[in-house]
Amino acid sequence: MEAKNLIDLDNISLEDLDEIIRFAGVIKENPTYFVDVCHGKIMATLFYEPSTRTQMSFQTAALRLGCKLIGFDDPGSSSVSKGESLKDTVRVISNYADIIVIRNAFEGAALASSMYSRSPVINAGDGGHLHPTQTLTDLVTLSYEKGRLDNLTIGLCGDMKHGRTVHSLIKSLSKYKNNKFLMVSTPELKLPQYLVDYMEAQGCEYAYADTLEEIMPEIDVLYMTRIQRERFPSVEAYEAQKGVYVLDKKKMDLAKPDLRVLHPLPRVDEITVEVDEDPRAKYFEQTEYGMYARMALIIKMLENRTADIPPTKKSTHDAKCTNMRCITQTEEYLPKLFREVDGDLVCKYCDTRIKKK
Ligand code: CP
Repeated sequence: MEAKNLIDLDNISLEDLDEIIRFAGVIKENPTYFVDVCHGKIMATLFYEPSTRTQMSFQTAALRLGCKLIGFDDPGSSSVSKGESLKDTVRVISNYADIIVIRNAFEGAALASSMYSRSPVINAGDGGHLHPTQTLTDLVTLSYEKGRLDNLTIGLCGDMKHGRTVHSLIKSLSKYKNNKFLMVSTPELKLPQYLVDYMEAQGCEYAYADTLEEIMPEIDVLYMTRIQRERFPSVEAYEAQKGVYVLDKKKMDLAKPDLRVLHPLPRVDEITVEVDEDPRAKYFEQTEYGMYARMALIIKMLENRTADIPPTKKSTHDAKCTNMRCITQTEEYLPKLFREVDGDLVCKYCDTRIKKK
């Protein structure tokens, strides 16, 4: 694997992605062979935001491979509470750990971390932006449960705006042939424009629907998501969106016999518990596939570790990102990095598009 860090699955080639998925399968079928293959290595998990699955599946994956663990899941118990910058925290931890897994509420935090780390950095979720290792989990699940990653009609339902798992999944699945996306969300929670542009650039077919009932008979995969309460500006704004789409047995009755229902979890109220008993519901199995996906990723990234301090990046433009959830809003020393797209500027940390002055 060529990439040093995993910030976005776009950073790795399709060949490397397929290799990780294949390798996760090898580990799943031969778990004892991989016990202690990373003996002597240390993984740091820096969780600035709450997590159950991502944090614990990384920790379990590392422990099964023989790594030792350091880190925090409450930044309040670290020197972050004294005002230490992301840059300083990561630079120090990368002197201790061979690999760093980071989750942060600000978009682009993992990319920013990778700019100051000697060790590989894995993005375990950056605000409402991306969650590439959830996507690895989803791809391993689909390759087992559907036997393919192409020629799929995929229903996506819920919070398309803040759902970072959906963003990463669309980016990856649109690279495989003949995948079609059917999106069900309220107008307020529609997919960000940069991802619509991405699907178009890949030549992917997509459509919007108002109800789950409309898409159930057609889809091969249903990816349900939670409405992300923590990303709303007010309780009232969240309450207005909550409970609009609920998958229940009646809707499952409209679907194909080989439908697979995935959900990154946690679930709130968007799938009724009766659906858990349906053999097409695979969201609990998905969490186990995720552990094998992360074991495969850890092995590949440790093989590729160079321990070099990355060269300092310089600002590419004078502009400032307008996204208030972008990491550049709080970590003001960060270079302003933009790429130019159709005469506009796109922030490299959070993918927000702004007008060029
Ligand atoms: N799927 C996922 O990211 O779950 P956690 O927030 O519990 O890690």
